[in-house]
Amino acid sequence: MSGSERILKAGAQADASYPRSAPRPGAAFDIEAIRRDFPILQQSVNGHPLVYLDNAATTQKPKAVVDALEHYYTRDNANIHRGVHELSQRATAAYEQAREKARSFVNARSTAEVLFVRSTTEAINLIAHSFGAARVSAGDEILLTRMEHHSNIVPWQMLCERQGARLQVAPVNDRGELILEDFERLLSPKTRLVSLVHLSNALGTVNPVKEIISLAHRRGVPVLLDGAQAAARIPIDVQDLDCDFYALSGHKLYGPTGIGILYGKSELLETMPPFLGGGDMISSVTFEKTLYNKLPNKFEAGTPHVAGAVGLGAAIDYVRGIGIEAIAAHEDELLRHATEAVSRVSGLRIIGTAREKAGILSFVMDGIHPHDIGTILDQQGIAIRAGHHCTQPLMEQFGVPATARASFGMYNTLAEVDALVDGLGKVREVFA
Ligand code: ALA
Repeated sequence: MSGSERILKAGAQADASYPRSAPRPGAAFDIEAIRRDFPILQQSVNGHPLVYLDNAATTQKPKAVVDALEHYYTRDNANIHRGVHELSQRATAAYEQAREKARSFVNARSTAEVLFVRSTTEAINLIAHSFGAARVSAGDEILLTRMEHHSNIVPWQMLCERQGARLQVAPVNDRGELILEDFERLLSPKTRLVSLVHLSNALGTVNPVKEIISLAHRRGVPVLLDGAQAAARIPIDVQDLDCDFYALSGHKLYGPTGIGILYGKSELLETMPPFLGGGDMISSVTFEKTLYNKLPNKFEAGTPHVAGAVGLGAAIDYVRGIGIEAIAAHEDELLRHATEAVSRVSGLRIIGTAREKAGILSFVMDGIHPHDIGTILDQQGIAIRAGHHCTQPLMEQFGVPATARASFGMYNTLAEVDALVDGLGKVREVFA
């Protein structure tokens, strides 16, 4: 039993006092009820009902998450793992219960394998520093794909500079799909790690990660998955995937900002040095020598974002109450409808037409900069994102500096997709 599991058992009562408004598992997918759970959606923007289609950037938060944060701060707030007083014990129990929810959400074997981090970005940096220091030397290679977010490129470039290692980049085809034969060819005896995105934030491509992991494992290469976009759209089972690391951000999973999860196989995490040093990650300190704490605490230096973890736990409850499969099916319907409808807008080109896609629709319009598309849509209350989506190498491949991107969440409706298409018609009129 890990230290966290012991604490969880001791404080198992704390969670019962937290407010719950998550729909019961198995309840029908009731879009109107879901929308009522998100207070922020009940507003007008620029004189129009808000149509929020920027969910790949961040999702909105159900009241259950806001309530959990308020409950934590108005009742339980204290520092964790070190206080004997009641509030500290409650806060510790709430934090460790959130870890158990995270464990169950990704189906890790043990809470020892589930680290709280700030974000997917921090998770990747943690692996690049810690795994990199332990396992990557001069001449070694890290294999990425061309569809990576900058947060899954830059930490590896920095590692390569530190260690004298090299990046290899697997190409994608014109649909925005990974070219598996090339990926396989780039796996070499020098490859120390594969790091790739599960679901592309810029294109919506869903990578065949199980096949990729099996290709890498046949050569003894561990795999890190960037699950920032996948977590809210695809059921994650790290044991079934057999991935070595999985990173996700709470705020893209209907939870708070500033909190994320890094799953790592314990046999790897055990052999890796700590990322940050400080309180809580040690078992003893003298000026001569420090002994590190057990997992997961070894990787959680300093006071963590306790409220964030509690909020993320509430978000996981909420999402699981509705069901990831039901959310995925709903978003698939939105994406299908949107793809068909925007194809009828003259001069519009979809960027990213992978056969396996989810939740995200990127496009450009002839003669109109994506920022202008975003601004004119905003005047109609429609929030999309315009830019390079932190994937400049991918934009370069498609020959565009930026795209306009609509990304769906569980609360979006077919009527909102129609509003987007009408809005694009207005964009076209303005530039006619
Ligand atoms: N990575 C986030 C996005 O794709 C910010 O919008």
